[in-house]
Amino acid sequence: MIREMRAAIFDLDGVIVDTAKYHYLAWKRLAKEHGFDFTELDNERLKGVSRMQSLEILLEIGGLTVDEAARAEMAAQKNGWYIDYIRNMDASELLPGATEYLQRLRARGIKTALGSASKNAPLILDRLGIAALFDVIVDGNKVSKVKPDPEVFLRGAEELGIPPASCVVFEDAEAGIEAARRAGMGTVGIGSPEILRKADIVVPGLFELVLVSA
Ligand code: BG6
Ligand code: MG
Repeated sequence: MIREMRAAIFDLDGVIVDTAKYHYLAWKRLAKEHGFDFTELDNERLKGVSRMQSLEILLEIGGLTVDEAARAEMAAQKNGWYIDYIRNMDASELLPGATEYLQRLRARGIKTALGSASKNAPLILDRLGIAALFDVIVDGNKVSKVKPDPEVFLRGAEELGIPPASCVVFEDAEAGIEAARRAGMGTVGIGSPEILRKADIVVPGLFELVLVSA
C-alpha cells in the first residue's frame, strides 16, 4: 500500500536515543543478582514492552517464581539502576540522524509525535532538550495498554488529528511494529531486518532516511 505520510510517530528508546543499551544493562544486572544469565537475544523480547511485562519475561527466562511484592521490588531496583545510567545523559546519546530527520519532516509540514512505552520519557526528553521537536507526546504515563496493543500510537494519531492510515511509525522493537500494524499505520523498522521482519521497510537508523530524503 502506498500512503501519504501526514504524521510520523517515533518510538523513543532505540530509535531517537541510545537508551536500549541501558535497559539491557540494568536487566542483566538484575538477572545476575538472581543467579542467571540474560543475553542480548533475550533482550530483544523486552524491547518496546512495559517495565512490569519485561520483568515477567525476565523471570520466565530465569525460571523464577516470585510474589507480587518481590516483583514490585525487583522492578523498582531495575529502574533505580536504569535512572542512574540515564540521569547524566546529554545530547551526545541521540542516535545519528534523529534530530535532523525530525527537523526535516517538520520543515515539510509533517506532524511529529512520540509514542513510547517508557515512564521515564519525560526525564529523557528533558536531558536531551528535544521535547519541542514533537507536536504530541504519548508515553508510558499516559496509556494503560502496552505494545503490541496499538493504544499508544492510536492516541498519538488522535491527539495530532491525523487518521491512522496517514501515519507512519518508526520502531526498533518487534512489539512496536506489531502495535503499529494493528493501528493500521505504515511501519519503518529501525535495526535488523531479521528481527523486524514484519515492518514495511527496515533501515539501520534514521541517518539513512536523512541521506535518502535530501
Ligand atoms: C520501552 C523500552 O521504550 O520502554 C522497554 O523499549 C522498556 O525496554 C519500556 O521496558 C518501559 O520503560 P520504563 O522507562 O518505563 O521502564
Ligand atoms: Mg524502542
